[in-house]
Amino acid sequence: MNKLGTKRIETERLILRPFEAEDAEAMYRNWASDPEVTKYLTWETHKSTEDSKAILSDWLAHYGEGDFFQWAIELKEIGEPVGSIGVVNFDESISAVEVGYCMSRAYWGQGIMPEALTAVMNFLFEEVSAERITAKHDVRNPKSGRVMQKVGMREVGRDIAVNHRGSVEVICYAALRRDRE
Ligand SMILES: CC(C)(COP(=O)(O)OP(=O)(O)OC[C@H]1O[C@@H](n2cnc3c(N)ncnc32)[C@H](O)[C@@H]1OP(=O)(O)O)[C@@H](O)C(=O)NCCC(=O)NCCS
Repeated sequence: MNKLGTKRIETERLILRPFEAEDAEAMYRNWASDPEVTKYLTWETHKSTEDSKAILSDWLAHYGEGDFFQWAIELKEIGEPVGSIGVVNFDESISAVEVGYCMSRAYWGQGIMPEALTAVMNFLFEEVSAERITAKHDVRNPKSGRVMQKVGMREVGRDIAVNHRGSVEVICYAALRRDRE
C-alpha cells in the first residue's frame, strides 16, 4: 500500500483534514463530551477539554507516519470540525484497512458520514491502493450499519469485539477494490 498519511480531501460539504491542537475545544464541545456519541466506541466520553487535548497531542505526534490516517471532519458551513474518521487498523500483509468514525449528534441524519466515508474510501482504494476496506459496528448501533450500507459495503458476518463497555457482538462489513473495477 502507498503510505500517504492523512491528506486533505474536499467534498461538497466537507473538508477532511489533519487535526490541529486548536481543535480540542470543538472536539470536546461537538462530540467527544457526549455519552450518546461514545456509547458504542472504544474510548470513553471526555470529561474535559484536557482529555481532548491529550488525544489530539497523541494524533499530532503520528501525522508524520504514512500509515496513520485520522481526519477531522470539518463542516464548511460552520468552519469547525464536527467529527472524526480514520483508519483504526492497517494490515500491510494483505493490503487491508479498517475504518472508524463518529460525529456530533447535532448533525446526525444529514448524510454527512456517508459523504465523508465515500471520500475516504475513494482515497484509500485509489491512492493508498488498499485491496479491502472493512468496518464494524455494535449490534445495538444499527445506524452505523446504515452508513456502511449506503457507501456500498456488504455485510460479511458477526464477530466479538471490545469497546469501552467490554466485550460486545458486532456486525462486520467489507468492500473490495476488485469489485469496483
Ligand atoms: C453512526 C453515525 C456516524 C451516522 O452518521 P450520519 O451522518 O448521521 O449518517 P446518516 O445521515 O446516513 O444516518 C444514518 C442513520 O442514522 C439514523 N439517524 C438519522 N438521524 C438520526 C438522529 N437524529 N438520531 C438518531 N439516529 C438518527 C438513521 O437510522 C439513519 O439511517 P437512514 O438514513 O436509513 O434513516 C452517527 O450517528 C454517529 O456518529 N454516531 C455515534 C458514533 C458511532 O456510533 N460511530 C460508529 C461506530 S461503529
